[in-house]
Amino acid sequence: MYDYGESGICIEMKEVTKKYDSISALNGIDMEIPCGARYSLIGPNGAGKSTTLKILVGLLKPDSGKVTVGGFDPVTNQAKGIIGYLPEDAYPYINLTLKENLEYIGAIRGVEDPKSRAMDLIEKLDLLPYRYTKVSQLSRGNRQKLSVALAIVHHPKVILLDEPLNYLDIPTQASVIKMLDDLKATYLVSTHIMEIAEKLSRNVIIIGHGRVTWNGTMDHLRKMAENGERIEEVVARLMKDVA
Ligand SMILES: Nc1ncnc2c1ncn2[C@@H]1O[C@H](COP(=O)(O)OP(=O)(O)O)[C@@H](O)[C@H]1O
Ligand SMILES: [Mg+2]
Repeated sequence: MYDYGESGICIEMKEVTKKYDSISALNGIDMEIPCGARYSLIGPNGAGKSTTLKILVGLLKPDSGKVTVGGFDPVTNQAKGIIGYLPEDAYPYINLTLKENLEYIGAIRGVEDPKSRAMDLIEKLDLLPYRYTKVSQLSRGNRQKLSVALAIVHHPKVILLDEPLNYLDIPTQASVIKMLDDLKATYLVSTHIMEIAEKLSRNVIIIGHGRVTWNGTMDHLRKMAENGERIEEVVARLMKDVA
């Protein structure tokens, strides 16, 4: 069904730049993420994480450079159906129940049996007791779990999540991470919190000032931190090392 072509690369950005008026948000982003791989996108506030994800989804057009997602150009819309995206400020429909949100968005996104898909996700995220609760009455953690479930309801092959776990308690983080682990998908998940990145993925892309400053594995990062340095300190150093 999904033909990614010969390359085996599911997310590709080459020398991508983006300005908001006079502010340079991206100064030449380069990345290649193989199909099926899972990456965290780490960087401090303002580094360009959200802009990068919005360009991959096709919500923003780059000023220059090349972008492909699943072999498609997101600017021309073709990539949209295979992408699952959680924006930074996602907000489900507040007057619908948790279950209605999943069924409704599932139906819109062409899920074959939206009702059973909704129940499937509700069970996976331990949300069963809240399925008939209106979103306006859900706790922040449960609302965020629902937002992640809505982003992936249509079985996307490429998942782009913008800070999905920040500020959630550890059990909530764990159930979202478990659900993501069970998916057969390529994913890129942004966070500015290193501890979250460590739980999420084996691979890391670090960005600072709109450029990728380091790209490698968590293990490699940990090895670089051996001489008494904390991993957060290594990452902070790498964010500044503009390649
Ligand atoms: N809509 C916008 N208008 C103007 N500047 C923006 C806008 N969105 C982001 N920026 C700026 O672009 C840079 C990158 O922002 P962003 O991609 O949101 O970073 P991050 O998600 O890593 O915090 C920052 O300097 C930010 O202030
Ligand atoms: Mg952001």
